[in-house]
Amino acid sequence: MWEILGGDLERVIITALEAAGAPEKTTRLVARHLVDNDVIGHHSHGVMRLREYVDAIDRGSLIPDARPRITDESTSTARIDGGWAFGQAAAEFAVDVAVRKAREAGVSAVTIRRVCHIGRLGRYAEMAAEAGMAAVIFTCGGGRGINQAPFGGLDRKLSSNPIALAFPSELEGPYVVDMATSAAAEGKVRMHRAQGRETPDGWLIDRNGNPTTDPRDLYDGGALLPMGHTEGHKGYALAFMVELFGGILSGGGVPGDPADSFSNDSVFIVLDPGRFAPIDELTGRAARMTDHIKDTRLRDPARPVKYPGEIEAAARTANRNEPIRLPEATRDGILSVLRDLSLPEPAALRRGL
Ligand SMILES: NC(=O)c1ccc[n+]([C@@H]2O[C@H](COP(=O)([O-])OP(=O)(O)OC[C@H]3O[C@@H](n4cnc5c(N)ncnc54)[C@H](O)[C@@H]3O)[C@@H](O)[C@H]2O)c1
Repeated sequence: MWEILGGDLERVIITALEAAGAPEKTTRLVARHLVDNDVIGHHSHGVMRLREYVDAIDRGSLIPDARPRITDESTSTARIDGGWAFGQAAAEFAVDVAVRKAREAGVSAVTIRRVCHIGRLGRYAEMAAEAGMAAVIFTCGGGRGINQAPFGGLDRKLSSNPIALAFPSELEGPYVVDMATSAAAEGKVRMHRAQGRETPDGWLIDRNGNPTTDPRDLYDGGALLPMGHTEGHKGYALAFMVELFGGILSGGGVPGDPADSFSNDSVFIVLDPGRFAPIDELTGRAARMTDHIKDTRLRDPARPVKYPGEIEAAARTANRNEPIRLPEATRDGILSVLRDLSLPEPAALRRGL
């Protein structure tokens, strides 16, 4: 493992993305997303993605200076063409449009297609909640990046198809659930592989359909299993619905389509809770409900019950000024990008543990 301060890490990512051809505003936005994901402990969607994004630019499947644009809209809806811009930039654009429209109309639905990897969905749901809105986001893989088997099947047929929901709160952070509909995000399997760790039971099958805990099997023809283990029908059914909401509704790609590129085709549904009751009344009731739920006997006294989103909110506060610990493989990935872009190795990347 090695460690680095978030500010130093952000500067390294900004420099690399600038050298790869991204405009300054975009580099700052993408770097902020990646480092924030590492700060809150979601390393699967942190700076380890730099190598993949720079490779996508090289292949021409990510256009670093592209801008998403609205192709069709009404008071409460919009369709956005992501233009193969950075997914983080396109998703921020979509959530801004959705929040603006929900403020006007009470509720909005905004789709986006032709969009590169948007990373951690929870951040966009949090942004809506920070603006006083409730939000639901469905995101698929655009017919490529297929890595999840349907419940009862042994072949890859779906993407890991995440869902995020957020609701404003008066607590440290908004209520947020943000999860793959597969047992875990693919990036988490990649993190296990990078650290030479086995994956938990119920995450994976190998190419022959046998259960496995070897993360390498996923990259050798295996598949992610749907969330829920023996009750995987629930994860699968959700993953299926994500293809409808994220892929079919957006006009993006779905499994079975000939898809040249991975695309995080999505729908952002945003709702103004203030149209239903005064916001203080809603968040006050939610806080009292949270207290009630947390007031329980515990299986393990060292592990209190949390509200959804609490772990990330607390980690963001606690870790903001702390060094971030990352696996060596992540540093190697960043260094390889810097070398390819003929950039010097910054001193901040030399510090080990
Ligand atoms: N862009 C993409 O294509 C894509 C695809 C798949 C997943 N992802 C992202 O991967 C990330 C990880 O997904 P995952 O399914 O592995 O998530 P996870 O299993 O780490 O967490 C799922 C959710 O459970 C909540 N949670 C965890 N422990 C909790 C507890 N004790 N009490 C209450 N809530 C708790 C978390 O806050 C989170 O919202 C997500 O951010 C997701 O958006 C992205």
